[in-house]
Amino acid sequence: MIKKIGLLTSGGDSPGMNACIRAVVRTALYHQIEVIGFIRGYEGLIDNQFMTLQHAQVSGIIHKGGTILKTARSDRFRTEAGLTQAINTLQQHALGGLIVIGGDGSFRGAIELSKRTQLPILGCAGTIDNDLIGTDFTIGYDTAINTALDAIDKIRDTAESHDRVFIIEMMGRDAGLIALRSAIAGGAEALLIPELHHDLEDLITKIKSWRSNKGSRIIVVSEGDEVGGAYKLAQTIKPHCAGLDIKVSILGHIQRGGTPTCMERVNASIVGHHAVLELMNGKQGCLVGIIDKTVTLTPFEKAVKHIDQVDERLEELIRILSH
Ligand code: F6P
Repeated sequence: MIKKIGLLTSGGDSPGMNACIRAVVRTALYHQIEVIGFIRGYEGLIDNQFMTLQHAQVSGIIHKGGTILKTARSDRFRTEAGLTQAINTLQQHALGGLIVIGGDGSFRGAIELSKRTQLPILGCAGTIDNDLIGTDFTIGYDTAINTALDAIDKIRDTAESHDRVFIIEMMGRDAGLIALRSAIAGGAEALLIPELHHDLEDLITKIKSWRSNKGSRIIVVSEGDEVGGAYKLAQTIKPHCAGLDIKVSILGHIQRGGTPTCMERVNASIVGHHAVLELMNGKQGCLVGIIDKTVTLTPFEKAVKHIDQVDERLEELIRILSH
C-alpha cells in the first residue's frame, strides 16, 4: 500500500504540465495517497524544497501554461554529490513512489536514481519537442504546434502584403517535429529539419524560381537543422537571390507558453491519472504514454532513444502542395 508519493516537473516547461500535476494529485488523494511536489525539479529534490499538494493547490490550474512546481535543468543532479543528496531527501520523506514529468534529460535522471534506490519511479512525457519513444504526443507538443501555426499564419499576412520570403525558425532542439507539423498546416513552401537531408542547391533553385511570382513564401527551419538555423540559412541563400526580400523570424520561447489545447489537457489528465494507478499496481522505471489511444508503459531506457525518423512522404506532401 502506497501512502505517500513525490512529484516533480523537470527540464523545459511545457503547456499541459499543470493539467498533469492536477491529475496526479487528484487521483492520489482519491486513493488516500499523500502527494508532495518538489520545487524546480531535481534541484528541489537536492535541496529538499517541496510543497504538500492538496486539492486547493491544484485548483484552477488546468488551463494554465508553465508549471506551478517550477522547473529547472539541474547541473548539480548530474554530479555524484547532487545525486546522493537527492536520494537522502527521498529517503527522508519515506516515499512510496516518485512521478517525474519531463523530457529525455529528466528520464535519464530518473534512470540514474533508479540504479541507486529501490524507489519506484514513473514518468509522464512533458516536452514541446515530441521526441520521446512511448507516446504519440508528449505533453506540450500540441499546444506548441498550434502556437507555431498561429505565428506562421500571422507572418503570412505581412509576407503577402510585402511580397516577401520569410524564414521562420522553430524550436525542437535536435528534433524537427514542431517544424514539420506547423509547416504542413501553415502551407509552408519549404521545410528544413534535422531528420531529413536537404540539398541547399535545390532549395536555392526553388527560391530563384519564386522571383517571377509575387506573393508570400514561407520557409520553415528547425533550430537543430544542419544548416544552423534561420539566420545561417538566410546568409547562405541571400547572395543567390538578389531581388527577393528575405526576412527572418525566430519564434523562440513563445512556443513553450500559453494556454494548453483541449487535446493537451485531456492527454495530460489521462497520463497523470494512470501514472498514479500504475505506481499502485507496482510498476516502475517506465514512461506512461498514449499510443494509438491506449495507455502504454515504455521503459525509460527505450523512451529516451531519440526519434530520428520522420515519414519522408510528409516532406513530399509539402513539396507537392506548395508547387
Ligand atoms: O526541450 C524543449 C526546448 O524548448 C527545446 O525545443 C529548446 O531547444 C530548449 O528546450 C531550450 O531550452 P532553454 O529554455 O533551457 O534554453
